[in-house]
Amino acid sequence: MGRTLGIIMNGVTGRMGSRQHLARSIAAIREQGGVPLSDGSALVPEPVLVGRDPEKLRALAEEFGVERWTTDLDACLSDPSLSVYFDAQTTSMRADAVLAAIRAGKHVYCEKPTSSDLPTAIVLARAADERGVRHGVVQDKLFLPGFVKLGRVIESGFLGRILSARGEFGYWVFEDLLPLQRPSWNYRAEDGGGIISDMLCHWRYLLDNLLGPVRAVSCLGATHVAERTDERGRRYPCTADDSAYATFELEGGIVAHINSSWATRVYRDELFLLQVDGTDGSAVAGLRGCRVQHRVSTPRAVWDPDAPDPNDYRAGWQEVPELSPPDNAFKVEWEAFLRHVAEDAPFPWNLWEGAKGVQLAELGLRSWRERRWVDVPDIRRERASDDAAAAAS
Ligand SMILES: NC(=O)c1ccc[n+]([C@@H]2O[C@H](COP(=O)([O-])OP(=O)(O)OC[C@H]3O[C@@H](n4cnc5c(N)ncnc54)[C@H](O)[C@@H]3O)[C@@H](O)[C@H]2O)c1
Repeated sequence: MGRTLGIIMNGVTGRMGSRQHLARSIAAIREQGGVPLSDGSALVPEPVLVGRDPEKLRALAEEFGVERWTTDLDACLSDPSLSVYFDAQTTSMRADAVLAAIRAGKHVYCEKPTSSDLPTAIVLARAADERGVRHGVVQDKLFLPGFVKLGRVIESGFLGRILSARGEFGYWVFEDLLPLQRPSWNYRAEDGGGIISDMLCHWRYLLDNLLGPVRAVSCLGATHVAERTDERGRRYPCTADDSAYATFELEGGIVAHINSSWATRVYRDELFLLQVDGTDGSAVAGLRGCRVQHRVSTPRAVWDPDAPDPNDYRAGWQEVPELSPPDNAFKVEWEAFLRHVAEDAPFPWNLWEGAKGVQLAELGLRSWRERRWVDVPDIRRERASDDAAAAAS
């Protein structure tokens, strides 16, 4: 057994916490003997499961062979043997807990959105820097095999000058089918729900990292389904948006449009697909796959509704091969964060990057409310002007 690292895992009884973070990341890393470090040793995460329901925690601990679980977060925060705090609670619970962990000197890693509003997201990032702790935010889509391949395609220059991107995300979330596909708080604004605050965080880091910084947003939200059934079978009114139709302007004039919806039916190969068109070629990436078409193999399409189309459009695309066996995206990012904590390996996906996601969600909501395009200012510049204002007052 290698070196160990104590991790407080809060919110592990939830959908993301239990499946992605505990089962497929931390338990899987333990199972493989830890995260390999550059000196040849391994770092083994030792989780303490934290939550509100002792029965659920005990069951999870048993299932994954975890020794420690507790409902007492404060006790964990004052335990010096635990150096990392992880948070996958509901969004509205996150900021206070993360801030308490930072103040206790823990390194922090958390789900997105990092908070429900930008000022709080910035407070978290700044507090973590000032306390000198390591920090990270889940940006899982960047580590999905399909988007890793898309990154490779873009980096190779295959697409030429990138012109635009269009994305389709979504599926039908049944109103009253138990067990629910998604927790009911997702559909209540008062509990931090809404697809804009959920998905625009993802679109921010995906676009920023793959195509270029997002400079402006125009977003139209909708609550298409007015009433749903909760976990206990009770009807409730939906107060949060379940669909978002958003256009983004990126640096260099790239236009990206992404539809996100929990009220649509799937006629595509994956639950999210992003097509990127460039002067020399195009790519379509999803969770797992990525296909490309070069200019030289682009069929010449002619609009003629009166005759059958001679082109088999799908046949003209090439699958980008896997270069190594794909791993779970959450696990890959966890491993990078653990290396960051253990040996200072680079980890750019920090609370500042997370705050950018919160910012875009907030501006998307404002665009919808005010029915207009909204510019996306540079967070660091905003932060500098905040500092200047504070110094002047
Ligand atoms: N990275 C991604 O792809 C992704 C996907 C879905 C959700 N998320 C994020 O993960 C977080 C958790 O989402 P989820 O779908 O797992 O939610 P969930 O409702 O399934 O889990 C929420 C967790 O928070 C805990 N919790 C603590 N206080 C609570 C309170 N007062 N009310 C309700 N729950 C409380 C619950 O016990 C549970 O463990 C959210 O912030 C969400 O935005 C991320």
